[in-house]
Amino acid sequence: MRCLLSASLALATLAGTVCAHLPHSSSSSSSSGSVVGKRRKTLGFGPSHPHAVFRSSPYQIKTNGFTPQDPAMDPLEVARIFVEDVLSERLDKASSYKIRQDSYTDKNTGVTHVYVRQLVNGLEVQDGDMNINIKDGIVLSYGSSFYTGPTPAPFTNPSSSANPHSEFCQSLKDELPPHLELAFTSNSQVAMGTLLSIPPALMHLHADHCVSLSSPPPPEAFSEDPADFRSALLKFMATATPSASTAEDILNNFGQYRDEMVFDPTHHFTSPSGVDEHHVEFEVRNVPEAVNPVKARLAYTQVPTADGTSAELHLVWKFEVEMQDNWYETAVSVSYPHNIISVVDWASDSPMPIPSSSTAPIPKYPSKPDPATYNVFAWGINDPSVGNRSTVKENFDSLASPVGWHALPYGNDPAFKGARLVGKEFWRNTTTTWGNNVFAQENWEGQNSYVNNYRPDSSSREFDYKYKPKETEKGDALEEAQKYINTTVAQLFYTSNLVHDLYYRYGFDEISGNFQQYNFGRGGAENDAVIANAQDGSGYNNANFMTPPDGQNGRMRMYLWNTAIPYRDGDLEAGIVIHELSHGLSTRLTGGPANSGCLGWGESGGMGEGWGDFLATTIRSNKEYSDYAMGAWAANNEKGIRNFVYSLNETVNPSTYKTLDKPGYWGVHAIGEVWAEILWVVSQRLIEKHGYADDLFPPTPSENGDVPEGDFYKPRKGGKGPLVPKHGNSLIVQLVLDGMKLQSCRPSFFDARDAIIQADQILTGGENFCTLWKGFAERGLGPDAKVEGRTPWGGGVRTNGYKVPLACEEY
Ligand SMILES: *[C@@H]1O[C@H](CO)[C@@H](O)[C@H](O)[C@H]1NC(C)=O
Ligand SMILES: *[C@@H]1O[C@H](CO)[C@@H](O)[C@H](O)[C@H]1NC(C)=O
Ligand SMILES: *[C@@H]1O[C@H](CO)[C@@H](O)[C@H](O)[C@H]1NC(C)=O
Ligand SMILES: *[C@@H]1O[C@H](CO)[C@@H](O)[C@H](O)[C@H]1NC(C)=O
Repeated sequence: MRCLLSASLALATLAGTVCAHLPHSSSSSSSSGSVVGKRRKTLGFGPSHPHAVFRSSPYQIKTNGFTPQDPAMDPLEVARIFVEDVLSERLDKASSYKIRQDSYTDKNTGVTHVYVRQLVNGLEVQDGDMNINIKDGIVLSYGSSFYTGPTPAPFTNPSSSANPHSEFCQSLKDELPPHLELAFTSNSQVAMGTLLSIPPALMHLHADHCVSLSSPPPPEAFSEDPADFRSALLKFMATATPSASTAEDILNNFGQYRDEMVFDPTHHFTSPSGVDEHHVEFEVRNVPEAVNPVKARLAYTQVPTADGTSAELHLVWKFEVEMQDNWYETAVSVSYPHNIISVVDWASDSPMPIPSSSTAPIPKYPSKPDPATYNVFAWGINDPSVGNRSTVKENFDSLASPVGWHALPYGNDPAFKGARLVGKEFWRNTTTTWGNNVFAQENWEGQNSYVNNYRPDSSSREFDYKYKPKETEKGDALEEAQKYINTTVAQLFYTSNLVHDLYYRYGFDEISGNFQQYNFGRGGAENDAVIANAQDGSGYNNANFMTPPDGQNGRMRMYLWNTAIPYRDGDLEAGIVIHELSHGLSTRLTGGPANSGCLGWGESGGMGEGWGDFLATTIRSNKEYSDYAMGAWAANNEKGIRNFVYSLNETVNPSTYKTLDKPGYWGVHAIGEVWAEILWVVSQRLIEKHGYADDLFPPTPSENGDVPEGDFYKPRKGGKGPLVPKHGNSLIVQLVLDGMKLQSCRPSFFDARDAIIQADQILTGGENFCTLWKGFAERGLGPDAKVEGRTPWGGGVRTNGYKVPLACEEY
């Protein structure tokens, strides 16, 4: 789960990897409530991929021996030729690859984004990812983390990696601030991303975990049947559960818990992620702490060799575990003692369109009912401190939401499963905050269910409710806040739908993995609207978003903030909602719609946070330049919840690339703040050059679906070629989204920067090459920036690069 907020001051060095719901320490605590919610535990770590590359210069691609193909050739065929060129002699019977079905061609740029998964001995290499960007027979760029060593014999682990953690643990230890040493030595998991203590009894299961590198596991430990994944899963559950007593219980009754687990093999004709037609996946029930059956399958993962320069393959069980507060994708070693090798918490993720669920023509929506109205803080008003509410219309975008925000097919409605067969109607009109893009409701109980939760209902679809929270005694503040549930759910629904429509118009559409119950026959996987919970009872002073792969609902939880009386409601602060929804955007666009594991930790995980801050800040900004804080209203602190406000002024915000080396900058939120600041500087340089669009929404398409250029896009010759936003603020949003589609899985700052620069090359022919490089270089991310000894959680030694490419030097 990605959380918005860092933890309290005392825990500052762990900030961000922990989503503590403590009152913000630097806010005016005299007025803040004393309610301290549960802390949400989250794990996120994994090995680095020293051999991974992202290449975006034609020169680098040509040196692979690859030559451009016929522009008319099917891009998938081009991808095949390219992969076989890159892999050349490595391909044999045991080592192959699979082009994933979630590959797609971007409608605007015409670039085909091809996602490839590596297979060895018929098993998926779960972190062997390639993304190849192709246009007109040319490979524009590609990223690869394919394993490049010799093929291991089937079902064996290399002996040298009996402890895949050793390298990882040692460097983690070297890097930790001294006062964390204690926590580290007593419990490695603390350092890896949670503050919650794991009971000492668990340590015997972690026999060769970081803490006891010197003592190898006893020989009898290897007698366990490696084909039985239940112990591995149970060990993960004991580590992952936020409850110390549950962990104890699991460990004390290990055999019993293991024997109670039931599993059935599930044979997929084609795998849900489009990876491997022949793989067997297990569904495991009776797993403690899991809220749905766990998915399990055998895979390989790459673990760095002792010298850190390459990787070897390690056999793992890959589990997908949905828990109350987390949705983990984890790789646990098949061999004793079941080391947890990597964990990503999804909770925080065409010329060859995927066939739509039906080929029948889309039933026409009879006629649009009158638009709904909402009394809300209108789009652009970030929070109650900067404006008042007003009555606005359901101004849905006709391209992004063809039937508006309050309609969806019965057949795709979780409240009417299968009802389509019964009723004659195809479309269902709703009178609540329930539609094709968003299901918004209260979730005071903090539970998983949502269909029957309360949401406002208005037969005239006029969502007009009062909002006048009173100053109460502390003990009554929660009850007072809950009186305004109608208001706050309506606001959350309104903001979330606008974000859906806005991102859609910049290319986050059905084929690229957006969130909708019904996809209008336009491809992509459906039945995945955002479940948006207002006043979620699972915490305070935060927010989070879970992004499973395309085709499964995203889930957003918004919390109350007890930073003031009356409580402040995060649902009313658009910046927080936009930040959370942007996790869904970046997770689905990076590495392809069906891979939610590309922004897990370190620099990639950090940028996952940073894009949200940047987009929220860009959306609230206006023509007159101003600095902005993140979450300032909700946190009741004018500096907001980050270390610095976003500013062009280096005294106000001194963040540079090198800042990542500082203590306290290995959590994703701190890393993200640096990335957002760099993007903010870059965006201002584009605005200086191209001016400012007052409205980020592109013009409405005409009846025949053509999008007029208006004053929004650059005029195109003969109406052909990609649409390019002509102003600086709209252009940067486009470049950022296109960059997400181009960049590799688990991107570094350099990869994401290069992808943005390439996005400009594709859209404008490189018109902003120097402007972009100058912007990046201002904050140390020029071409001469470098990092040595990078570690998976963002460590390493960085050097700022202030140069610009030769072609951009002033003379
Ligand atoms: C939904 O609303 C439209 C427009 O008012 C109407 O034509 C249609 O019959 C409605 N559908 C249902 C199922 O009520
Ligand atoms: C909201 O409206 C009131 C009354 O018209 C006004 O005094 C106040 O300044 C407004 N607040 C904001 C933030 O614009
Ligand atoms: C929400 O609105 C409904 C009317 O639409 C009203 O009956 C209900 O009391 C309101 N809820 C609260 C908590 O005010
Ligand atoms: C930058 O901020 C500092 C501190 O607020 C201020 O003194 C300085 O004048 C600012 N510089 C510019 C160029 O605005």
